[in-house]
Amino acid sequence: MASASLISDTEPWKDLKEHVNEINKTHLRDLLNDVERSQSMMVENDGIILDYSRQRARLDTIDKLFKLAEAAQLRQKIDRMYNGEHINSTENRSVLHIALRAPRDKIFYSDGKNVVPDVWNVLDKIKDFSERVRNGSWVGATGKALKDVVAIGIGGSFLGPLFVHTALQTDPEAAECAKGRQLQFLANVDPVDVARNIKGLNPETTLVVVVSKTFTTAETMLNARTMREWISSALGPQAVAKHMVAVSTNLVLVEKFGIDPANAFAFWDWVGGRYSVCSAVGVLPLSLQYGFPTVEKFLNGASNIDTHFHSTPFEKNLPVLLGLLSVWNATFLGYPARAILPYSQSLEKFAPHIQQVSMESNGKGVSIDGIPLPFETGEIDFGEPGTNGQHSFYQLIHQILFPDCLLRFCLGDLLLPSLTFPAHQISRLISDQIEEFAVYFQIASYMGSTIPLPVLWWFSYKVSEILVVATFGRVIPCDFIGAIRSQQPVYLKGEVVSNHDELMSNFFAQPDALAYGKTPEQLLLENVAAHLIPHKTFSGNRPSLSLLLPSLNAYNIGQLLAIYEHRIAVEGFIWGINSFDQWGVELGKVLASQVRKQLHVSRTKGEPVQGFNVSTTTLLTKYLE
Ligand code: F6P
Repeated sequence: MASASLISDTEPWKDLKEHVNEINKTHLRDLLNDVERSQSMMVENDGIILDYSRQRARLDTIDKLFKLAEAAQLRQKIDRMYNGEHINSTENRSVLHIALRAPRDKIFYSDGKNVVPDVWNVLDKIKDFSERVRNGSWVGATGKALKDVVAIGIGGSFLGPLFVHTALQTDPEAAECAKGRQLQFLANVDPVDVARNIKGLNPETTLVVVVSKTFTTAETMLNARTMREWISSALGPQAVAKHMVAVSTNLVLVEKFGIDPANAFAFWDWVGGRYSVCSAVGVLPLSLQYGFPTVEKFLNGASNIDTHFHSTPFEKNLPVLLGLLSVWNATFLGYPARAILPYSQSLEKFAPHIQQVSMESNGKGVSIDGIPLPFETGEIDFGEPGTNGQHSFYQLIHQILFPDCLLRFCLGDLLLPSLTFPAHQISRLISDQIEEFAVYFQIASYMGSTIPLPVLWWFSYKVSEILVVATFGRVIPCDFIGAIRSQQPVYLKGEVVSNHDELMSNFFAQPDALAYGKTPEQLLLENVAAHLIPHKTFSGNRPSLSLLLPSLNAYNIGQLLAIYEHRIAVEGFIWGINSFDQWGVELGKVLASQVRKQLHVSRTKGEPVQGFNVSTTTLLTKYLE
């Protein structure tokens, strides 16, 4: 274990570290003028276009990242995944969600066994069962058709299916197949979630699907017991057999719970929870709602990307490029967050799903060999559909980079003697970044509450060699995701630009707004009042990438999912971590169970709270009172 080395010890890593200084001298305004660079940074697969020309990278940066991939043995690691090796070493498991969407004749081995026939046995069983429920040959205890489905599950047993359901809901073809049916999700252990779910539901027409890989997750099992009681108190205990089915790898516990194993849909320990949407976890509830043929299209889309990921050279490989750029942004440029901005309301649950896939996978502090890492891994993912996000958090993403704009301003031809800036604010911003620069401004801050512009000019001149266009402040790389065709096109009478065009105008404009910003010079030419110039100056140089999909049908949604799943795996492979375990989550579960035990003894025996720190003891005591 101790002999294993870290990726940060390799030459390509060190080279990239030094390369950051070079990139800090560039601005996207200039980089985007390079036509050859922009054209090279546009890649297409099966109608999906990735444009990464607005990344803070030059073509030699990409070459260096490919060298890093070689040093990290990315190709070999991808092959090991596809060969079914136990790359999830801390749990001693293969990682084979790719087998879940493989065509029948494809072969994927886990522990010497081709798992694809097992996958298709379950898919065939789902197809048969969902068709019977949908056509009314499987009915509830009182003979009524089951048109409402409640899927109980949490984390990976919830977020992926919710994302796909939300995306399909507005696809006309899928919506047609779902006519008269309802699919809901029950995840939170908060009783409010149960209340919301059962509001307006009739137990006679409701089918409950309990989804849990382990069948031990506290939240899911409590919700399952609650729904079981809801059904049996209305229809009698024998009704459970007709109204409850399960998806799990633990069929023993499914039977113990009281669900007939014949009504259980299996998956396997080589499917990670957050990578399980293509297993029965997602396929069963989605097939009940939309019919199996729709879901099969979704699986085919994911499979298309699986093949692309495995067989396409890195230069044209969407998940590889995306993964490498994420490592570049997060680790080398030090941008800790990533905004996921789909310009599509139907993708509103995409960011929450990717949050789990990404942050649970890559938020790791040690290498796969258990060595503490001298660098940070993972990103803080968040997002909202555009244009809603624009009216929410984009201001912070645009946030001005004071030193940059000041330098450009001060070193430019234009001097505005009347303009002054609060010295303490500037020195705080800068001192975080470069000490030498800070010293000049610390001196300046002693001179008074504001720095006259000529003084600023002199300081700026002194440090101009260090900081020509250095990027300061909080930079949040953005993923812009859009579709050429809308699921629900609207053309208002007399308007040439459709509603979708209006949405997409923002999709095309925002990346440039972030890249170019607005200079004081431009503002002056627009006759903006001097005192407003600092407020309206945006230094730009904010990186983003754009993913343009042909449309958002079931197939494209499958592609999008697989692109992100593999991108996250690429990042983990480069960092040299295990992206497929989640021990941090386990810790929280253990502590919650200690609190649960305490609540039990306090409520049943009146015992005082003990064994916790002062803070938790006080809060628990208050809660029990
Ligand atoms: O959040 C931790 C986690 O273990 C996820 O990885 C998983 O998707 C979720 O809990 C639910 O687990 P299960 O499917 O076993 O109920």
